[in-house]
Amino acid sequence: MDSNYIEISEKRKKEHIENFLKGKSRNSNLFGDVVLDNNSFPELDFSEIVTDITFLGKKIDYPVMINAATGGFDGALEINRGLAELAGRFNIPMAVGSQSLGLKSGNHKSYKVVREVLKDKVVLANLSAHANLDDVSRAIDMVKADGVQLHLNAPQEMCMEEGDRHFRGVLDNIEYVSRRIEVPVIVKEVGFGMSKTSVKRLVDMGIEYVDIGGKGGTNFIEIEDLRNKTIDYSDLYDWGIPTAACLLQCRELKGDIKIIASGGMESASDIVKSLSLNSELAAVCGVVLRRYLERGYKAAEKLMEEIFHKMKVMMMLLGCRSIEDLRNLDPMIKGELKEWMRD
Ligand code: FNR
Repeated sequence: MDSNYIEISEKRKKEHIENFLKGKSRNSNLFGDVVLDNNSFPELDFSEIVTDITFLGKKIDYPVMINAATGGFDGALEINRGLAELAGRFNIPMAVGSQSLGLKSGNHKSYKVVREVLKDKVVLANLSAHANLDDVSRAIDMVKADGVQLHLNAPQEMCMEEGDRHFRGVLDNIEYVSRRIEVPVIVKEVGFGMSKTSVKRLVDMGIEYVDIGGKGGTNFIEIEDLRNKTIDYSDLYDWGIPTAACLLQCRELKGDIKIIASGGMESASDIVKSLSLNSELAAVCGVVLRRYLERGYKAAEKLMEEIFHKMKVMMMLLGCRSIEDLRNLDPMIKGELKEWMRD
């Protein structure tokens, strides 16, 4: 049974990458409705602008991380090596893809390569929020992780023919696991967004970090739909809460929980706007993965260099010397995003 599970999971991981590249659906993250004022008197020199922050006890050079993508099958080794080299080049954190396949198969190479490349920089483990304590501990140990992401992906599982259908007890499991492991837990969505109500349930159990993983980028309903032979789920391609709407809803939880902004984060503007809505840092996945797979390491490096340069340009235009200054901005909210400002 296990060898069958491994075969199906390896095939699925490959198809996720293929279908991610094929995907055509576009939803808005709604950052277009976040408006920041030009500051005519920045009173700064460009060289004064600093972008480093501390994350999980380590200094990182930009408030951005590379989010979980893959691992466990042959092709994942080179993908993760490339992504880790990018993370290392800019001294930013990286999360490995779900380690459940690796735990089952014993093939750990494509996950461990991330720690090998990143040495003492920030690496995150990743498993389903359903995973038991023993598996979470083993996943952390596999990559000597600084923290662990526990992902929530009910919409993806429900549109997957062989997907999970059991969603009871996840909150209790997160609480049980998080109280017993030694590294911080980041509970994350995978592109469908987390509402303030959902985030509050995590605040109440003392979770320190949440990655709201909103709508507006990679679409796992479409990725699974392209694999699914029995039901057409294309009418659900717009399912989810846009990334900017999640952040806006969670703004009043400031101080209670640290929010990671992800889901369609593709530009310096998206990142700066997410910080102005009080995120701790932003996480990018699809934009970097696509550039790396389609055009190679150098092109992905250039993309990130330009994003980070433009972030600093925007900080200048806003008169913000540090990332903390960005968090103290008061952006104007307009259009559709304004409709999401509700209890
Ligand atoms: C993902 N993502 C993901 N997330 C997770 O927690 N565990 C995983 O194993 C994976 N696997 C995975 C594979 C592929 C091919 C992609 C593109 C993405 C989800 C990812 O971390 C992120 O939450 C979403 O992709 C939304 O961010 P972007 O892509 O819109 O920036």
